[in-house]
Amino acid sequence: MSANKVALITGANKGIGFEIARQLGQQGITVLVAARDLAKGERAAAKLTAEGIDAKAIKLDVTNEVDIANTADHISSEFGKLDILVNNAGIDADGAKGWDDATVLTITLNNLRATYETNLFGAAMVTQAVLPLLHKSEAGRIVNHSSILGSLSLHSDPTSPIYSSKIFGYDSSKTALNAFTVHLAHALKDTPIKVNSAHPGWVKTDMGTDAAPMEIPDGAKTAVALATLPADGPTGGFFHMGETLPW
Ligand SMILES: NC(=O)c1ccc[n+]([C@@H]2O[C@H](COP(=O)([O-])OP(=O)(O)OC[C@H]3O[C@@H](n4cnc5c(N)ncnc54)[C@H](OP(=O)(O)O)[C@@H]3O)[C@@H](O)[C@H]2O)c1
Repeated sequence: MSANKVALITGANKGIGFEIARQLGQQGITVLVAARDLAKGERAAAKLTAEGIDAKAIKLDVTNEVDIANTADHISSEFGKLDILVNNAGIDADGAKGWDDATVLTITLNNLRATYETNLFGAAMVTQAVLPLLHKSEAGRIVNHSSILGSLSLHSDPTSPIYSSKIFGYDSSKTALNAFTVHLAHALKDTPIKVNSAHPGWVKTDMGTDAAPMEIPDGAKTAVALATLPADGPTGGFFHMGETLPW
């Protein structure tokens, strides 16, 4: 079994996932840079290696059951355990459209399905596959990269800043991911494993666009903190920069 801590970050070839890998790597953690396109993952891992980080690329499309099984097998044979899982890979299949074309009244079944395949089903199935390896860690940590747009409390509050941002597929997929966090934390409550949802902030990435106010290094901070929680840290919560968000 690896003496070092080992972290798997999905969708880590770019954006916030890449930066999470970097910040965990800077703490001496071995980072598995998972990417659906292995060449992109290898380029990202090489960048981190050049910075002195112990980074390895792994091919993982979170919607692909074969990739998921191979990932669990690979981690088992190479490291014998997993300490941290960050379910970061995420899409908004309606991203290219205006918000008016992606409401509950207009969304297409294809886009609704595609968004759920990655944001919910992918996260749940990757987690199930690597859970036996997280049980082998002394202090397993699971972070589900959610969004404030998954908060039903804020969506139903006319005074909240997200009240008018109603992208049904993406938002509800993150609400469902939050439900996954709560159910999983309950299922693991008698183990050392902690499971939390993170909202990174509105971050300048391909998804967040240049209009976002937050830089990527800050956008990674919430997930990195939850991935490295101490034994007395919370489980089954929803956080942004140390603050609890309403479900
Ligand atoms: N940016 C924001 O403002 C913001 C706000 C709230 C929440 N978030 C969440 O934070 C996470 C990261 O977002 P980001 O802004 O960094 O987005 P991004 O720059 O678009 O990066 C998304 C990453 O997910 C990967 N991905 C997509 N589908 C995948 C699949 N089926 N299997 C494996 N990887 C897949 C992408 O791979 P490819 O390069 O191959 O496409 C990419 O590496 C997402 O879950 C997002 O919902 C972001």
